[in-house]
Amino acid sequence: MVMGQNVLVVGSGGREHALSWKLACSPLVDAVYTAPGNGGTACNVPIAVDQLEDLAKYAKKHNCFTVVGPEAPLAAGISETFARYDLPLFGPTQAAARLEYSKVWAKDFMSRNGIQTARYRTFTDPDAALQSADMFGYPVAIKADGLAAGKGVVVCDTYKQAGQAIQDMMVDARFGAAGQQIVIEEGLQGAEMSYIAICDGDTLVPMVTSQDYKRIYDKDRGPNTGGMGACSPAEFVDDALVERIHRDVMERTVLSMKREGNPFVGFLYAGIMIQDGEPYVLEYNVRMGDPECQPIMLRMKSDLYKYLRAASSGTLDTMPPVRWHPDPSVCVVLASRGYPGHYTTGQTITLPDNIRAGAQIFHAGTKRQDGIVLSDGGRVLGVTALGDTIPDAAQNAYDIVNSVQWDKKYCRTDIGSDRARTDT
Ligand code: AMP
Ligand code: GLY
Repeated sequence: MVMGQNVLVVGSGGREHALSWKLACSPLVDAVYTAPGNGGTACNVPIAVDQLEDLAKYAKKHNCFTVVGPEAPLAAGISETFARYDLPLFGPTQAAARLEYSKVWAKDFMSRNGIQTARYRTFTDPDAALQSADMFGYPVAIKADGLAAGKGVVVCDTYKQAGQAIQDMMVDARFGAAGQQIVIEEGLQGAEMSYIAICDGDTLVPMVTSQDYKRIYDKDRGPNTGGMGACSPAEFVDDALVERIHRDVMERTVLSMKREGNPFVGFLYAGIMIQDGEPYVLEYNVRMGDPECQPIMLRMKSDLYKYLRAASSGTLDTMPPVRWHPDPSVCVVLASRGYPGHYTTGQTITLPDNIRAGAQIFHAGTKRQDGIVLSDGGRVLGVTALGDTIPDAAQNAYDIVNSVQWDKKYCRTDIGSDRARTDT
């Protein structure tokens, strides 16, 4: 009998549950371990995502192929650590991860390689930043250079707001060293979409398009969150625009990274705003999106493991195009009331015994204690469903959402509906 492969997924969110679930569907995979995992992932390993040496030792001992979920271990050099142990891993090197962990570097990269992005300037001095805050008029986007858990971007409509953002980031060091340098960027207006591809340094295999819902309240109001829902595809983007983004943004990024000596292996994610029909890159991420991963994985028919393995060994060009479920999908995130501010955890969650075919409840901030599922974070669950149309998929997801109960449950009520966005 041929032995299958063990897989280690690094992370603990909804994205990692969706990746673990999909990888476990592969007939080539024996066991999927998730470190540290959550209340939904099957085989959890109690190693934190920043314990790079311990993760490598575990992967060595259990003969694992490793897939990295979040950006922090990539920025900390998990690829290099695993390379030292001669272990296969899917994810970019520390140098290539700079596309996400330095916004200054990413903007300069786009600028020197002709990738369309908003006009910008970078600053290390708060007074100089303040003096130039209105150079593009308002609104402006003010961005901390480094990783700031998705909170390092402030879109400002006035000089006063810009001054406050500069003060917070550069003087009060709200994001620590991440705010020592900032980008001030022309404010763009339009609808946003996520374009994600699997890359092996040369070749890229695109995922279906997706969109996330960043704000906490209905109609995209209130503060930004890690994402309160997502859908796939991003329906407002037609085939011609998808082709253009693929060629002018994604292929150009991969080619330029290689030419500059930092070939990109991993999930490459471009956050794109469409203004007057033109795609502008707002940000790169060097990993799958969360929650975009959940609806994308639900639509994927092909074997994810085969693609990630091919990417990590530089043979993506031998793979056929990914097969996708033609039906759209929607993920509704259930959060702890109070998120993204203060919230309590430890509430008992009641889950339905059965759910319809074509749907999954992905866990994020949950844990299991004596067989009981407890809330254990801000974003708790991602109920994800297919449907004939996006509103239909949303209805299917909300039917399940209504059968999930806990004391402090909160979700948006408009994920997947046209009412959800103020800009469309
Ligand atoms: P980022 O992390 O750079 O994608 O920024 C987070 C969010 O801020 C984006 O999803 C947009 O909603 C908003 N944003 C970023 N850059 C701009 C910009 N240049 N103009 C308008 N909104 C922006
Ligand atoms: N959903 C946005 C992100 O993963 O960064």
